[in-house]
Amino acid sequence: MTKRALVSGGAGFIGSHVADRLLAEGYEVEILDNLSSGRRENVPAGAKLHHLDIGSDEAAEVVRKGRFDVLCHLAAQIDVRKSVTDPAADARINIVGSLNLLEAVRAGGHATRVVFSSTGGAIYGDFVPIPSVEDMPKDPESPYGIAKFSVELYLAYYARVHKLDTVALRYSNVYGPRQDPHGEAGVVAIFCKRVINGEALTVYGDGLQTRDYVFAGDVARANLAAATRPLPPARQVDVRAFNIGTGRETSVLELAATLQRAAGTTVPVNHTPARAGELPRSAVSNAKAVRELGWKPEVNLEDGLRMTHEYFLKREGGSAS
Ligand SMILES: NC(=O)c1ccc[n+]([C@@H]2O[C@H](COP(=O)([O-])OP(=O)(O)OC[C@H]3O[C@@H](n4cnc5c(N)ncnc54)[C@H](O)[C@@H]3O)[C@@H](O)[C@H]2O)c1
Repeated sequence: MTKRALVSGGAGFIGSHVADRLLAEGYEVEILDNLSSGRRENVPAGAKLHHLDIGSDEAAEVVRKGRFDVLCHLAAQIDVRKSVTDPAADARINIVGSLNLLEAVRAGGHATRVVFSSTGGAIYGDFVPIPSVEDMPKDPESPYGIAKFSVELYLAYYARVHKLDTVALRYSNVYGPRQDPHGEAGVVAIFCKRVINGEALTVYGDGLQTRDYVFAGDVARANLAAATRPLPPARQVDVRAFNIGTGRETSVLELAATLQRAAGTTVPVNHTPARAGELPRSAVSNAKAVRELGWKPEVNLEDGLRMTHEYFLKREGGSAS
């Protein structure tokens, strides 16, 4: 029988890659998205869009009645700064919206694996060794990170008490075609736009701050692995959380240089004062995902940046916003 997948946030950047991947694997794919940051044109042909808020009764009904084999839950308010200015609004979407879907899975009574999009960058905090591993202490510094970690705790609760089949994927900084400037790897979209327009790249501080850039297509493959892989039962909070990243630190200066090489162009790089509160370093170990999900990233940074740059070049002659 054809397997059925529901992708919340499937009109967004990463979710649309996940939907593409599931369709390519022969799944029937439905998408739950209120198009608040997603775009209708991101929804792949062949996927059915439910234009709904994840917090609504209608969305719960789609989940409850859909007999889905997997729910890839990506819909979220993703802007860390917005979560700081309005933590309650962030929690309403990222925590309460997620609970609405989890309750609907429970009420539906179907064996649906829930694959939740969490974050590595925003839950480990400043003081953990790099690359961070899953069972290190959590120290989220923003309401966004707190909400993501809260949902992980709920996933563990639903697994333990209601026997739901739940997995959390903690992405590092995801970049690729269809990304926008507001996500955790927004710098890639901003730099692409500036390179295309022949404008200088602005680097905050010395540019030696690092991030772990993982390509969206690789993250989509991780969702597929998490959707299908037999996994041992969850026994504790971290048992079914997997970092999805490259384990490699890339500085902003290296990113700027690699992008220019990939694009075959040179633009000036300007330095402005460092931003207060910016995490100096971030990278996640993917050893657990390699071992237990059989997943590893396949696209290197230069190739991924080339594909991302080409996408923005085609899309709107450089407007990445
Ligand atoms: N981009 C990254 O680097 C990164 C890193 C770590 C985790 N994540 C997580 O991955 C997921 C996808 O992020 P993205 O970068 O593709 O962002 P995105 O904004 O492109 O995608 C989010 C999607 O969710 C939809 N959405 C938002 N609120 C909704 C609601 N209340 N009801 C229904 N749909 C709603 C949006 O319209 C959008 O299509 C998010 O959960 C995000 O927190 C992203």
